[in-house]
Amino acid sequence: MSDAPTPSRSHGRLSIAASLKPRVLMEEPARLAAAWRARIITLFPEAFPGILGLSLTGRALDEGKWGYDTIQLRDFGIGKHRNVDDTPAGGGAGMVLRPDVVGAAIETAQAGTPRDRALWPILYMSPRGKPFDQAMARRLAGAQGVTILCGRFEGVDERVLEHYQVEEVSIGDFVLTGGELAAQVLIDATIRLLPGVLGNQASTEEESFSHGLLEHPQYTRPAEWQGRAIPEVLTSGHHGKIESWRREMSEEITRARRPDLWEAHISQQKKGK
Ligand code: ADE
Repeated sequence: MSDAPTPSRSHGRLSIAASLKPRVLMEEPARLAAAWRARIITLFPEAFPGILGLSLTGRALDEGKWGYDTIQLRDFGIGKHRNVDDTPAGGGAGMVLRPDVVGAAIETAQAGTPRDRALWPILYMSPRGKPFDQAMARRLAGAQGVTILCGRFEGVDERVLEHYQVEEVSIGDFVLTGGELAAQVLIDATIRLLPGVLGNQASTEEESFSHGLLEHPQYTRPAEWQGRAIPEVLTSGHHGKIESWRREMSEEITRARRPDLWEAHISQQKKGK
């Protein structure tokens, strides 16, 4: 692998010693040594870290609590023009990423990672994929890291997906121009679940989502705005009543907006879970 292109950018590792106190490093050497990592295969490495470099995820990146490498797909392209795609077999519009090119990029990305896909899944962001959800975020956060292939064309040669047991993942029923934004969505939802990344807030929010209901409405000061008052119960100081009001609102909103979640919630309750 010595002459293979190396990941073109690295974040979240060198800054560990610089930004954490020595005492903290001594307390948690194992976790820091094996921080969760994303290896991202893309034609646009400059798209990363993007939004993930800001706010809480950006701080966690600087602190080495997670990290990423980008692998420039073009480096593995064929010929003078470093072509990465070709016309679809059988005809049709658009282009298809070549298996030899993507395969070489995946081999490079996998260097030094566990072979067990449960420990290090390989994902391909695609509208054709399995819908991404909180349960998948939880599963990915439990891995040591992930490799993510970002597409920009009609698709990828199916053989490479089969050969490397690649999981196709969709972030919703719409078509993006490329997989980079989708990858950032997936990484954001995953790293906020890592122990110590965002503190307690994430686990509290996660808990409320794992009940399978949407959030109840929230209010804050002023008590009246544009002729609208805060629902009286919330200013009553009666915690029991506030709890049941919030629960009712959650159920009402879930039933109205997400019949699929509501059905799943009801059948879970019937099972006594
Ligand atoms: N690439 C293009 N559209 C996408 C989607 N909806 N989800 C994941 N990756 C994509």
